[in-house]
Amino acid sequence: MQLSLSSPFALATLGYSQAAILMVLALLCSFLLLLLFLQWHRPRDKRLPPGSMGWPYVGETLKLYTENPNSFFSNRQKRFGDIFKTHILGCPCVMISSPEAARTVLVTRAHLFKPTYPTSKEKMIGPEALFFHQGSYHSRLKKLVQASLLPSAIRGSVSQIEQIVLELLPTWKSNTINTLQEMKRYAFDVAMISAFGSKQDLEMEGIKHLYRCLEKGYNSMPLDFPGTPFHKAMKARKLLDEKLRSLIQKRRQSGRHGGGLLGILLGAKEHVKLNQLSDSQIADNIIGVIFAAQDTTASVLTWILKYLHDNQDLLEAVTREQEGIRSKIVEANRGLTWEDTRRMPLTNRVIQETLRTASILSFTFREAVQDVEFEGYLIPKGWKVLPLFRSIHHCADFFPQPEKFDPSRFEVRARMINSLAYVHLATYQKHTYAHVCRLPVMLLSH
Ligand code: HEM
Repeated sequence: MQLSLSSPFALATLGYSQAAILMVLALLCSFLLLLLFLQWHRPRDKRLPPGSMGWPYVGETLKLYTENPNSFFSNRQKRFGDIFKTHILGCPCVMISSPEAARTVLVTRAHLFKPTYPTSKEKMIGPEALFFHQGSYHSRLKKLVQASLLPSAIRGSVSQIEQIVLELLPTWKSNTINTLQEMKRYAFDVAMISAFGSKQDLEMEGIKHLYRCLEKGYNSMPLDFPGTPFHKAMKARKLLDEKLRSLIQKRRQSGRHGGGLLGILLGAKEHVKLNQLSDSQIADNIIGVIFAAQDTTASVLTWILKYLHDNQDLLEAVTREQEGIRSKIVEANRGLTWEDTRRMPLTNRVIQETLRTASILSFTFREAVQDVEFEGYLIPKGWKVLPLFRSIHHCADFFPQPEKFDPSRFEVRARMINSLAYVHLATYQKHTYAHVCRLPVMLLSH
């Protein structure tokens, strides 16, 4: 007998299980149709930024993952302008690629755009780290981190950093090395100095080991079961937290805050209330800043080496600059000083151009905390907002022939002076350069 679902007796002639399957399928189809209907027929607010939201619920995620990300962003920027909407990984997003708009989101109207990270990352780094906050707690911590990066705070570390390089160099001789891994080793040791003021303490080896375990699970699936990389990382995080707290206690009890960011955080008091930061606030921020410093610095160093390798004339010119410094050091029979690192204009321009060309952090995320009027458009509450640093750094209006690696463009101050990316780099450059500069110096001159 032919079955027709329109027949009132049709279901009765099917087994109960078949009927149930058909009903589930019918419900599923109606649900999907409803989702499609809502996606395509939702009231279109003319004031939303231009752009395509792609397929319902998948959005443009597949395109982003299958296309070259550079062309994904630049094609849309050409078509829709510096502010456009899209839909990625289940989230409606607004992408922005003008320096002024990036500055608005990240600085001038930052209170309207909150940082947004997966909960697993927050757990791993520590919820009290500055990355996850806005407002007065964030600015207080940012000032303290910046204080630890001032030349006055770091100039005394030059000889310790030189020592790290001198210890590393022989291990690279006549070996094939994985550059990024070696740069990470270097950057980590330097980060330890900048976090704790010195790497001599016995605790340092333990901290280093736990950090490595934590790092291994950082980008894993957040499945917290025994045996998973995430679980192991969370265990390491707990031990790391304990170690840091005991170090904090020791420093508090001895009455000597010690050097590095830890010393600055321990000494921090609010002007009026004289509130100290708690142990957990300090521990989370130390862990967070080492995270922020290590991979970024190591990637930039790796790119510097690649660009110098690809531009032999430049490599020779940088080598000449470094050899000049080296011969003075040898002549005077002394170690490298902070002043030496200030006398390498070409090396500095190579670093700036590497930061621009490689743009190792291509963009960042924020989320609108309310409906926001933004440059004539509406950004609805809950939408993600992504300042695209890479697009700004590769915009021909600011950097003619943007794909060319040309450090001489930094002989004159670039027009991107207003870009937040630049503001960030300007904020951190002394410290970052202090990290980044010394390795090429030692690499080329030893
Ligand atoms: C060349 C290497 C680096 C690059 C390209 C870089 C890039 C960035 C960018 C783009 C942000 C903004 C993220 C956002 O607001 O969403 C950021 C934040 C941050 N970076 Fe770096 N960074 C570098 C090195 C460092 C180093 C060496 C340190 C510390 C010693 C550091 C500490 C921080 C901190 C603490 C923040 C958070 C600032 C805040 O929330 O206001 N960074 N970095």
